[in-house]
Amino acid sequence: MDGNGRWAAKRGLPRNLGHKAGAEALRKVVDSCRRLGIQYVTFYAFSTENWKRPVEEVNALMKLFKDYLDEVDRFSGKKSRIIFLGDKSPFPAELRDRMTALEKDSAQYTSMTIMLAMNYGGRDDIVYAAKRLARLSAEGDISPEDIDEKTFSGMLYTGSAPDADLIVRSSGEQRLSNFLLWQSAYAEFYFTDTLWPDFDEKELKKALESFAARSRRFGGV
Ligand code: FPP
Repeated sequence: MDGNGRWAAKRGLPRNLGHKAGAEALRKVVDSCRRLGIQYVTFYAFSTENWKRPVEEVNALMKLFKDYLDEVDRFSGKKSRIIFLGDKSPFPAELRDRMTALEKDSAQYTSMTIMLAMNYGGRDDIVYAAKRLARLSAEGDISPEDIDEKTFSGMLYTGSAPDADLIVRSSGEQRLSNFLLWQSAYAEFYFTDTLWPDFDEKELKKALESFAARSRRFGGV
C-alpha cells in the first residue's frame, strides 16, 4: 500500500493524513475483493523495516491500526477470516490484544481470508519458519529428512494459505521490499503509478484483467 506519504505531500498535508486516506482505501478495496470473489488477499501494512521511520509517524500508524482494527468487524472484516503476518510482540499491548482477538473471533470464517502483514518481512518469515522446524526437530517431532517445501510453507506466517498469484504494487515503485519472498516464487507482478489512497475497484479490476491475460507456465512449457 505504497504512496500514502506522497499523496499527502501533493496536497500539503501531513503524512499521517496520507495513511488515514490509505486506511480508507483499504476498507473499500477489501469490499471490492469480496464482491469480486477473491478468496485470499494480503495487505502489506507495516514492514520490519518501517520501525526506522520518525517516532511521530510510527506512533500515528499504531493509533491508526488500533482505530481501524477496532472497527474492522463492523465493515470489511465481516464474515472474513483475519490473519496477521509477522511478530506481534513489538506492538503496544492494546493493539496486540486486539490483533489476537480478531484472529480468534474470525477463525471460523472460510469464504474470504484477509491477511494483514504488520511487522512483516519476508526474510523474517523464513527465519521464523526455520526456527519452528528446528524446534520440532530438537524435540524429536520431525526428522530433517521429512522437511520438504510443503512442510516448510506450512511453518510460515501464511500457514496453509496458497502461494501468491498476483502482487500489486502502487505508487510507481517496482520492487518487492521484503514482501512474501517465499510465497511469491511464481507470482505475477502488476505495477501502477496510482498512489495507494487513490487505488480503488477500477484499479483493482485493471490489475485483475492484466493478470487474466498472463500465460503462467510455472517453469513448464
Ligand atoms: C507506505 O506508504 C504505507 C505504510 C507504511 C502504511 C500503510 C498503512 C495503512 C494504509 C493503514 C492501514 C491500516 C491497517 C490496520 C492495516 P509510504 O508512507 O511509504 O508512502 P510514500 O512512499 O509516498 O512516503
